[in-house]
Parts: sequence; C-alpha cells; structure tokens
Amino acid sequence: MDGKIETAFPIPTGVFAETVTEVQHYTDRLFRFRMTRPASFRFRSGEFVMIGLPNAEKPVFRAYSIASPSWDEELEFYSIKVPDGPLTEHLQKIKEGDTVLMRKKPTGTLVNDALLPGKRLWMFATGTGFAPFASLIRDPETYEKFEEVIVTHTCREVAELTYSQTLVASVKDDPLCGEFASGLRLYATTTREDYPFMGRITDLMASGKVFDDLGVPQISPQADRGMICGSMSMLKDTKTALEGFGLVEGSNNKPDTFVVERAFVD
Ligand code: A2P
Repeated sequence: MDGKIETAFPIPTGVFAETVTEVQHYTDRLFRFRMTRPASFRFRSGEFVMIGLPNAEKPVFRAYSIASPSWDEELEFYSIKVPDGPLTEHLQKIKEGDTVLMRKKPTGTLVNDALLPGKRLWMFATGTGFAPFASLIRDPETYEKFEEVIVTHTCREVAELTYSQTLVASVKDDPLCGEFASGLRLYATTTREDYPFMGRITDLMASGKVFDDLGVPQISPQADRGMICGSMSMLKDTKTALEGFGLVEGSNNKPDTFVVERAFVD
C-alpha cells in the first residue's frame, strides 16, 4: 500500500498494512475475506502468512493459509471464528475498508514443488483446512503437474461445505482455470449432519468407500500424491493412512509423495 493508512497504534516494522475489500460470512463459525495485495508480495499457491490487526501496541499474529492463487491481484483468507480467540474474536468483525496486518514472509509445505510428479493429486481437508487448496485449485500449475485433482473436504455440518462447493463450481466456470480444471473433483462429506456422503475421510479410505464412490483405484505410490490440512489429530491419522498405502512424507528440500500442514486456528 502507499503508507497512508492511519491506525490507532503504529504499524510494526516488517509488516504490510492492507485494506479489506470484501467480507462474506458463511455460518456463525466461518467467514472469508479479501484484501489488497502489496505489489512487492510474492508467494507460491498453498503457502501461509502471519495475519494480525492494528488493535494493540504488540498485535497478535496467527498463521493463515492464503486461499487465493499466486496470480490473483488481491489476497483471500478463509477463517474460523473462535469465541475469545485472541485474533479471530476481532478479525470476525472486520468490514470493507478496515486494515489488516500481514508479515512479509510467506512459507509452507503444501506447495506443488514439495511433491514428486504423479498422475492424481489428493488434497485432504477438514474444516478451514480447505484454505490452501482454495489457492492450489485455482492455480493452472496444479493441473500442469497432475491429470486428476481430487479434493476431499469433511466438515461436521452441511453449511460448512458452502465455501468449498461454491469455489470448486466457480473454478470449473473460470475462464483461466476452467479449461485446465476438467480433472478437478470435490468429494465432500459430513460427520454430524445428514448428507449424501458421510464419514471421516480416514474411515472412508480404510473401508475403500471413497475409492468406490469416485471410481478410482486405491491410493498407490506409483500414481497418487497427497496434501493434508486439518486439525492436529486429522493430520496425524491421515498421514498414517497415506503411509499405509506406501506414500512417504516430503518437504520443500526433499520432495516426495505426500506433504502435511496444520490448519492454523487460535
Ligand atoms: P467428527 O465430527 O467425527 O469429529 P473439527 O471441527 O473438530 O476440526 O472437525 C472437522 C471435521 O474433521 C469433522 O467432520 C470431524 O469429524 C473430522 N475429524 C476430526 N478429527 C479427525 C481425525 N482425526 N481424522 C479424520 N477426520 C477428523
């Protein structure tokens, strides 16, 4: 930005101050917002940054996956609202025109570079863990590297699937991604409210139901690659499941057949 933003507290050094351009609430627990993107800010689709508000001398920062793709001229974030959460209790009240702080360095392992090439990319998300995949499914590079992209999104309730369902549908209609994204599929399930597909993704992999429902073979290290984003217990259990199929965890320095990131909440 141009440095003209005025806030009650001084903006810390090494931090961008950006302007909120759009806010959309999905449920009493979930919302999305967009904000301006500094001209000098570069990131790889799937990475996260530290976000804060200019509401204290020493603002609280939390890690947020960037939900927009690297080519987008704005930045998008998808957030939970935690009652009494040091950041989200305030962040959930932001409006268009408000200021959001962002530390300058993006990072993360849910990036295409950390995976070896393969036929089919699986993105396993629960709750707000869908955010980095919202970025990656809008990046044409994902489809250059993988013929098929399957996003699994599991939430407690049906309304919590709105963001992923709307976004996947819009990607398929998008002029830039639409033609690349013909191999994109969303496998959405709930665990605490009736829905056509139900159950934890770990259980659906163990029973083989997810593979039957999608008409694909069981995961193998020859064909499949995985990215995982959700709660700590979901990461652990999904990682164990992928290791059971013979996949090996990779990193930026040592790409392999799957990568893991934790979903960052208060
Ligand atoms: P469940 O309702 O059976 O706990 P949360 O909001 O707690 O992060 O959960 C989001 C979704 O992730 C819920 O549908 C939840 O199912 C599911 N989930 C929670 N823990 C795990 C886990 N260890 N493995 C797979 N899915 C999980």
